Amino acid sequence: MRKKLIIGNWKMNKDVHETVTFVNDIIARMNDFKLLIDNNRIGIVICPPFVSLFVANEIIKGTQIKLGAQNVYHLDEGAYTGEISLKMLKSVGCEYVILGHSERRQYFQETNDLINLKVKQTLINNLIPIICVGETLSERELGVTDRVITTQINAILSGLNEKDIEKIVIAYEPVWAIGTGKNASPEQANQVHIHIRNVISTLFTLEVAEKLIILYGGSVNVQNANELLSQSDIDGFLVGGASIKGESFINIIRTAIEVVNNYKKM
Ligand code: PGA
Repeated sequence: MRKKLIIGNWKMNKDVHETVTFVNDIIARMNDFKLLIDNNRIGIVICPPFVSLFVANEIIKGTQIKLGAQNVYHLDEGAYTGEISLKMLKSVGCEYVILGHSERRQYFQETNDLINLKVKQTLINNLIPIICVGETLSERELGVTDRVITTQINAILSGLNEKDIEKIVIAYEPVWAIGTGKNASPEQANQVHIHIRNVISTLFTLEVAEKLIILYGGSVNVQNANELLSQSDIDGFLVGGASIKGESFINIIRTAIEVVNNYKKM
């Protein structure tokens, strides 16, 4: 069984003070069940805004929570006003970075080619890229979802090798399901996850495709988490709205623990 990853994408929410309160709160809530978490089977990651990374890292040290950023620039240093490098992310304890989120594509004109550069730079710096792909509503209605996803993956993973693929995570995030309260049905999502695995298998190897962690993102909440996670090819979540409220984030983690522990008993 592949590891289940639960990743919270806070987006542009919580200042430094709110981060301190919130991270302490989730750690306290996790105390009840932290012994049930098998670290080889479940990973928990939070992705606060850049300015909160340092303080979040200080608080999560020694816990089961890991740190990720929501974006990065593709060069190491220089005259790029306003940008953040991978070296900087590493220095504040980040192990993951979200790349190619649809909000970055939509509002900041990020292209597949730029995301490809960011993925390469992330791998060179030994961080784990969480690469987002997904179709818009009109693309789904036109029936071209698979084709759109294939094009995104081909471009974003161009120039990478099999070893690189072992170090990435892909998040399938249908654009029409992000922040809308409309999630893809578990079957719809799983179908796309299977398609992604097939594309990876064709581009690289079946072995690498089978090991790849593929997350679902788009209006994940406590109500739909169990059914989504029980699908054959859904290996966890990239959670937006429900990750910035302690109770819902914790309950999604609890659900992942239940799914993993039930699987172990089977
Ligand atoms: P949502 O966001 O859970 O609020 O839909 C998911 C995401 O954008 O990663």
